[in-house]
Amino acid sequence: MPQLSYSLQNQQEFIVKGLINGDYKTPLKENNPSFDKNLQLESITCAVCHIRDGNVIGTTGTNNAPHKTIRDVEFLSDKLCVSCHNVIDELNPVLVCTFETGAEWNNNWAKKEGKTCISCHMPESERAISAGMSVRKSHFHDFPGSGIPKFFDMIARGLTSLEIEENPVPEILPVGESLIYSLKLKNSLAGHSVPTGDPERFFSITFRLLDNSGTVLIEQDFRIGEEWQWYPVAKKLSDNNLKPMEERIFDFKYDTIKEGVLILSIEISKHRMTEENAKHNSIYGLYPLSIIIFQKEYIIKVE
Ligand code: HEC
Ligand code: HEC
Ligand code: HEC
Repeated sequence: MPQLSYSLQNQQEFIVKGLINGDYKTPLKENNPSFDKNLQLESITCAVCHIRDGNVIGTTGTNNAPHKTIRDVEFLSDKLCVSCHNVIDELNPVLVCTFETGAEWNNNWAKKEGKTCISCHMPESERAISAGMSVRKSHFHDFPGSGIPKFFDMIARGLTSLEIEENPVPEILPVGESLIYSLKLKNSLAGHSVPTGDPERFFSITFRLLDNSGTVLIEQDFRIGEEWQWYPVAKKLSDNNLKPMEERIFDFKYDTIKEGVLILSIEISKHRMTEENAKHNSIYGLYPLSIIIFQKEYIIKVE
């Protein structure tokens, strides 16, 4: 039987032996002779969730694996997800953690209906867990979420939280009448606010009205998310995240004044962070920042 000599400490180049004057900014570091760069790059790897006290833990405690496995459904539960996805801390005035997904999920329809981090984000599958094993019920591990990929050549499977409802726009409008459009977004599918987690995530909604020469007559932008000031003191300035089952209506109105063709385009996109913050963090251009989740165009004849 292969021996497990797996330690996640090997993800760390240095081992911290203490703090000079109790200050985390001046750690007493020693080289880690077992540092493993590849393991570090795996980041939240299998062992983070599946090894405890040197044992592989799973949901069945099967005897068919080439290593010992221990059944631990208590650990492999939502508590595991919440242990990372609900952390509020302040290390110093400009370095704060604010992940509140666990608390957002704690008190809404989803939890009451038994929908959990795992049931929504680790969809069920019927398959053999490893070669030669029989097919059984298991759970996918690609953790679909926002759908914003981590790499440019990657297609990320995402989930949809928003129910989108539009009012119909007429194809023909008499001169002098108003073009009226409204968009209703409802967070009916996520068991927490959206966006959630990272406070830099946001949805952007853009209404753009053009004439038939392509000139932009009106552009309106709306945002769903939090706004933070990071310097000199990290501080939340505003928060209009959509709570579970909350809906919001975005209205558009334009008074027509002459004959012609109008094009109304609507776009909803989801963002990991602003371009400005990506530049500040030196990751601009290295990392996909957003995806478009809804796009529509109406052509209206004004006569
Ligand atoms: C973020 C935590 C996390 C990571 C990382 C993770 N798992 Fe899991 N894994 C789980 C949870 C939670 C379950 C239990 C799902 C359930 O049945 O409710 C599970 C279940 C399993 C199972 C049991 C079969 C099943 O699907 O129910 C196997 C086998 C497994 N994981 C293997 C792996 C391997 C291999 C990796 C690395 C490639 C990995 N896991 C990474 C959390 C994780
Ligand atoms: C050890 C800490 C840790 C644990 C445990 C953990 N996560 Fe995560 N999770 C992360 C980090 C870090 C990210 C990446 C966040 C980012 O890129 O902004 C992430 C990303 C995600 C995403 C994707 C977000 C996106 O980009 O759309 C989902 C969904 C998710 N986790 C669900 C879960 C679920 C469900 C569990 C429990 C089975 C779990 N996580 C357990 C740390 C953790
Ligand atoms: C009822 C299903 C459901 C439950 C329960 C649920 N989620 Fe989600 N989650 C979603 C959906 C849908 C999205 C996609 C939001 C979007 O982009 O529209 C999402 C997105 C996320 C994201 C990505 C961040 C973002 O803004 O898109 C993370 C991280 C996440 N969920 C973690 C969790 C954790 C942790 C739990 C448990 C505390 C949990 N979720 C419970 C449905 C669920």
